[in-house]
Amino acid sequence: MDRRRFLFSSLALLAPRTAFAAEANIEIFPDEPIGTISPNIYGHFTEHLGGCIYDGIWVGEKSKIPNVGGIRKALVDALKELKPPVIRWPGGCFADSYNWHDGVGPRNQRPTRTNFWANTPYLQKAPDGPQKYEPNEFGTNEFARFCRLAGAEPYFAANLRSLTPFDFYEWIEYCNSPAGTTTLATLREQGGDREPLNVKYWGVGNESWGCGGNFTGDEYAVEFRRFIEWVPQFSLKPNFIASGPNVADYAWTRSFFQKLTEKSKRTLRRVYGCALHYYCGTTGKGESVDFTDDDWYTLLAKATRMEELIENHWQIMGEVDTERSVKLIVDEWGAWHHTDPSIDPRYLFAYFPTLRDALVSGTTLDIFNRHADKVAMANAAQLVNNIHTSFLAVGDKFTVTPIYHVFCMYAAHQGGTAVRSVFSADHMGQQGASGLRSLSGSCSLHGKHAVLTAVNPDIKNPQVARIGIRGVRVSNVKATVLTSSDIHAHNTFENPRGLEPTEKAVTAGTSFSYEFAPASVTRLEFDLV
Ligand code: AHR
Repeated sequence: MDRRRFLFSSLALLAPRTAFAAEANIEIFPDEPIGTISPNIYGHFTEHLGGCIYDGIWVGEKSKIPNVGGIRKALVDALKELKPPVIRWPGGCFADSYNWHDGVGPRNQRPTRTNFWANTPYLQKAPDGPQKYEPNEFGTNEFARFCRLAGAEPYFAANLRSLTPFDFYEWIEYCNSPAGTTTLATLREQGGDREPLNVKYWGVGNESWGCGGNFTGDEYAVEFRRFIEWVPQFSLKPNFIASGPNVADYAWTRSFFQKLTEKSKRTLRRVYGCALHYYCGTTGKGESVDFTDDDWYTLLAKATRMEELIENHWQIMGEVDTERSVKLIVDEWGAWHHTDPSIDPRYLFAYFPTLRDALVSGTTLDIFNRHADKVAMANAAQLVNNIHTSFLAVGDKFTVTPIYHVFCMYAAHQGGTAVRSVFSADHMGQQGASGLRSLSGSCSLHGKHAVLTAVNPDIKNPQVARIGIRGVRVSNVKATVLTSSDIHAHNTFENPRGLEPTEKAVTAGTSFSYEFAPASVTRLEFDLV
């Protein structure tokens, strides 16, 4: 028996009424707040890519598929349960080829353009459709309406590579100028929105180190300054979000911040966030449903890398931003497996996420919670029919995925105070899974109510953890668990409830033990008395 196991077994013996010998230990420190968990950490991302917008969200007003003014009703209904705080649009790489003017005005007069993704080999082989030739049926008013239906704030990504700062401020004017004041406000009204859309979040380009212009950090900083130097503000100060680094490109973060402040450090006060992108990718054959145990562990270990990326970029940002006015945004994240050939071939990057992807989600969201002082927003890529998706929708077929359930469970953290929690658990020994522990998680307080979420990646063994909250008694413990004896479990159109969470009550005292099921994501909720 190793030292830690021995210690926990001893603790378990000492603790009265402890039902299990603890294999792990969770200690919560209510007096050590990390920060408020921004609800926006639970944000989503939609791009004109594959089946995300066309068919996923937009089915059209004349469709037989139940819709609200052209927007898929089943999606809106299920999405509301997630409490989506913010949704990013229209890309992604698509954003830097998108002319927002194309997507406003009478729908039947809008131009058709070649989609950014049309040349992708997989899509090239597929039949033509809106995935290749963008009809612009879904534009600014339609997206704003979708957000309103879902109860989310819109977050727009502006085109920096191929449009001008003038187009940028015109888009802001179109969205936010008061009713009846400007020509663009009148055009907006003709599109169905008399009142301003009040768009708060504005991304200035996307992946400007790559598809968004292939800039260096220095070059982009100059462009960024030019774009934000003057835009109309109306009653709303826009929150500008800069295109940040790709994964561990620390040089980008450093050079961007240095160049940005070359003339004055005051520029920092005008920047809301710097957007990191990190996809933990795939493993093995790259298939979402067919993977080995080793593939499972390797992917989950890759997901934990998010923590070091946040810590390292944050530290570099602090070299320049000593007052810490700029927040970290992670506006694209998720696993990314190969397109599933059983889905419509036009739906690039669509596949069936499994329990494994649910654990990637829990692991990542717990990391964001633990860094609530640094991360102001995050957007899972993407919302529907794409990559790390919460929904699949093809024609009249619709299902939520295991990722959706994790978002529902973790929504309970939104707006809470993240507090320090120490999860003491073994490292998983599997090859390629270094850094992965057999239990990890986060905890938030909402007055006298606590929400604790945890991920047990161990395929075979439950983790029995003793949970202690510094001298406080707990009551009304309720557990919600997403797990399966089959690590490949997922939902299909034929079986949309194949994998869903279950609930149970737990007995507790001053501290309590809880057995976290193998291969699970768990939410514990309890009151502090
Ligand atoms: O989400 C898919 C693509 O991944 C986005 O368009 C791009 O920003 C990233 O590389």
